Amino acid sequence: DAAEKGGYEHYMRKEIHEQPESLRQTLAGRLDVSAGDVDLDVSFPPGFLADLEEIRIVACGTSYYAGRYAAQLFEELAGVRATVEIASEYEFGAGRTPDRTLVVAVTQSGETADTLGAVRRANAAGARTFAVTNTLGSTVTREVDGTAFIRAGPEIGVAATKTFASQVATLAMLAVAVGRDRGALAAADARSVLKDLQGLPGAVQQVLDEEEQVREAAREYGDGEAFFFVGRALGVPVALEGALKLKEISYDHAEGFAAGELKHGPLALVTPDTPVLAVLTDGARAAETMNNVTEAQTRGAPALGCVSAGDTYDTLDVSFEVPNVGVVEPLVANVYLQLFAYHVANDKGRAIDKPRNLAKSVTVE
Ligand code: G6P
Repeated sequence: DAAEKGGYEHYMRKEIHEQPESLRQTLAGRLDVSAGDVDLDVSFPPGFLADLEEIRIVACGTSYYAGRYAAQLFEELAGVRATVEIASEYEFGAGRTPDRTLVVAVTQSGETADTLGAVRRANAAGARTFAVTNTLGSTVTREVDGTAFIRAGPEIGVAATKTFASQVATLAMLAVAVGRDRGALAAADARSVLKDLQGLPGAVQQVLDEEEQVREAAREYGDGEAFFFVGRALGVPVALEGALKLKEISYDHAEGFAAGELKHGPLALVTPDTPVLAVLTDGARAAETMNNVTEAQTRGAPALGCVSAGDTYDTLDVSFEVPNVGVVEPLVANVYLQLFAYHVANDKGRAIDKPRNLAKSVTVE
């Protein structure tokens, strides 16, 4: 067991640190930067993408948050309406055209019963289905019309880490591919996104090199009564994922929400004992988010922010620097939140790789 953990005390920390390499695998041979295109080895019937009315993403847990990130990329890069449903809640629903709908199931294991149920309902409605998964030969791959593998390698820790990063990276490539195919994305714009993706493994490595700073922040703020994670735009799914990671492994109360919602309720819970963690990067409407963070600080809450390199917010108690990689900056910020969750939980001696009551793959509905 110790040998399999490669010198790390937990699989989760090992897998967090594997992200530069797993992301390289995700991207390997798939980016054609000079042409501004992507080769994911997937195909659709002629004209299908051009006529597409909606991409509907279905997923659970961390994969659902990867889907929330991706939906914004599909709208921005592929010019197509994109919605995300919690798989157990998904129904084809009214007002939609099956043969102009692509249902994308995001599932690390490919075995989650709720997600398979959603795929079956989509197939029964006559929609085209697609899977984004880590697992070759998994059940989902046999039930959909097409699959893209995220190639993150096996993940043992119950709390998903490297697979989230690889899911978002794969979906970002799919968004570029769909955008190019539909003529919605200019080559120059595609090139800029692909360069950001190329920079992703190195940017994540730079964050990992700052682990000591996160360890100290976890020590200083880890005893909070509750933790609030906020962001806007691409920062919202990262805030939600950051809160999920912390609650899963530390058993602390943690909530993530759109920063603008803070004043519509959660602010009532903010005290000097409720640290606020914010995504303040590109793609996450940082200046507006910072205004909301300030509202929490006014009530005494300490504020920790993941900030784009080159920006400064003097009032933050802790500022984690995120390298400049455009549309994937929030994804890089997420690595700080993974490390924060890990160190808070580790300081409390929690069963990090096997949190109570949770399973890696949930095969019951
Ligand atoms: C379980 C795991 C989560 C995971 C979710 C969806 O709840 O504990 O980490 O995000 O299932 O799993 P999937 O394999 O479909 O991505």
